[in-house]
Amino acid sequence: MSEPVDNTNERRTFLGIILGGIGAVVASVLAWPMFRYLSPIAKGEGEQVVRIPRAKVSVGGAHFFSYQGRPAVLLQPKAGEFTALSAVCTHLGCIVKWVADAQQFLCPCHGGRFSAEGKVLGGPPPKPLETLLVSLVDDQVLVG
Ligand code: FES
Repeated sequence: MSEPVDNTNERRTFLGIILGGIGAVVASVLAWPMFRYLSPIAKGEGEQVVRIPRAKVSVGGAHFFSYQGRPAVLLQPKAGEFTALSAVCTHLGCIVKWVADAQQFLCPCHGGRFSAEGKVLGGPPPKPLETLLVSLVDDQVLVG
């Protein structure tokens, strides 16, 4: 009569491999959105010149748009005067918000503040918001 074979160690090894594989797949699925969020967007995507009707920006207001695949903002601080800036915070790349009452940009991530000209007013951002070229053609504002 033969004795029963003890293959407990083989089962444990097999289960360990299966659970390790499942864990790796789950970790990859969870990490992908974070990787996409943190990875910089390549420049050069989108149009080189963006046309925005003047009427889209009120005096003292802001109009957010996409410039070469990245968030940007057009301001009209005084009637007929336009400024375009990158809306990407120079600290860690969050998108700034326009606070019309204060006439400032506020970064929601770490409290960075920028003036309407893009200068750093406070918080951790190391440099001003990138300025974009603006020109006026009839009732259109051309950025880029
Ligand atoms: S990312 Fe804007 S202050 Fe940190």
